[in-house]
Amino acid sequence: MSAFDPWSPAFVAHPYEGYRRLREQDPVSWFEPSGQFLVSRHEDVNALLRDRRLGRTYLHVATHEEMGRTPPPPQDEPFWTLNNNGMLDREPPDHTRLRRLVSQAFTPRRVEALRPVVQRLADGLVDAFVAKGGGDLIAEVAEPLPVTVIAELLGIPEPDRHLLRPWSAAICGMYELNPPRETAAAAVRAAEEFSDYLRGLARHRAGDPQDDLISALTAVEGLSEDELIGTCVLLLNAGHEATVNVTGNGWWALFRNPDQLRKLRTDPALLPTAIEELMRYDTPLQMFERWVLEDIEVRGHTIRKGQEVALLFGSANHDPAVFTDPERLDIERRDNPHISFGAGIHYCLGAPLARIELAASFGALLAKAPGLRLDREPQWKPGFVIRGLEKLEVSL
Ligand code: HEM
Repeated sequence: MSAFDPWSPAFVAHPYEGYRRLREQDPVSWFEPSGQFLVSRHEDVNALLRDRRLGRTYLHVATHEEMGRTPPPPQDEPFWTLNNNGMLDREPPDHTRLRRLVSQAFTPRRVEALRPVVQRLADGLVDAFVAKGGGDLIAEVAEPLPVTVIAELLGIPEPDRHLLRPWSAAICGMYELNPPRETAAAAVRAAEEFSDYLRGLARHRAGDPQDDLISALTAVEGLSEDELIGTCVLLLNAGHEATVNVTGNGWWALFRNPDQLRKLRTDPALLPTAIEELMRYDTPLQMFERWVLEDIEVRGHTIRKGQEVALLFGSANHDPAVFTDPERLDIERRDNPHISFGAGIHYCLGAPLARIELAASFGALLAKAPGLRLDREPQWKPGFVIRGLEKLEVSL
């Protein structure tokens, strides 16, 4: 197998050996199939995330043509409009303005106040799961918890929430490398439906405000309607996709390392370091990209303006230059500067909330399902960037 093959199920299942070869032999390597430089060492990924000569977009400084890039096909416009209006795909000054507005809803105090609410939700889901005698942990616990939390925060009415996962999954297909045309067509359809839905809801809330984030955002000056919709979609998608996968990948890692699971069951006070370690050990978002806005030099390679780098988070998180014995799951690992929440100006806005959700669901499962065990070996979904399991079938 080649060191990096994001379209191969075998690589998606076991990327870490390939990463080791990249880090050792070719830490900044040109990858022809996606036309990007792969960056695999922790030091470089961390530095490039903070380097303002790179950006999540270039459209704040140049057109596609000026950057020497081909514009996306016109029929994909609804997807790109939605995507480019969320803060993640903006750079300063727009990014600063959008992030400041949304940050008000995610202050440490506000997020901390959600802890008991999240815990109650997690307890309820786990009680129901235990009463049934187990099942698919992803569908029954890992997904509904973050989806419910973020939907409640934004103010998506209960009967509409089943729409969110399919829309999100269709949109997130575009974040994989070289998505095929069918993926783009599905993402465009989902972007149109999701935008129309949120436009209707936001207009309704503007006339009849409730105690939720959509109502609050409709009252904010200096936020266009497209930005409001882009922001809500970003929060709804980012607010659950990775959390679901940390839960699934994390339990799968614990089942494969029974000594660590036993230790955690014996001493649940280890949960905070365990969660950080599970996020490092099997990184839920394996890669993020950056555009190079002016020529840069990385480990002797000149990377030109208009080129793209793929920052391999999963590899950075297994770099022995930073982590002792990186292939070992160690739930007591103290020195753990994993990069799973990113770094620099786009550092995950939802990190404190994600940590609360993970502590609540892992904690509830440890306490209420002490005999939780795996029924069959899970399969990976095809996605490499957003990497997670199809199902995790367990019994008690
Ligand atoms: C374990 C779960 C999560 C992981 C691993 C994760 C990871 C990340 C990463 C790596 C980024 C930066 C991407 C980049 O630099 O290109 C990011 C950004 C972001 N995340 Fe998360 N995230 C998680 C949960 C959440 C939650 C629960 C929310 C919302 C409530 C959220 C909202 C956001 C937002 C809004 C951004 C964009 C920030 C900006 O552009 O300034 N995330 N996340």
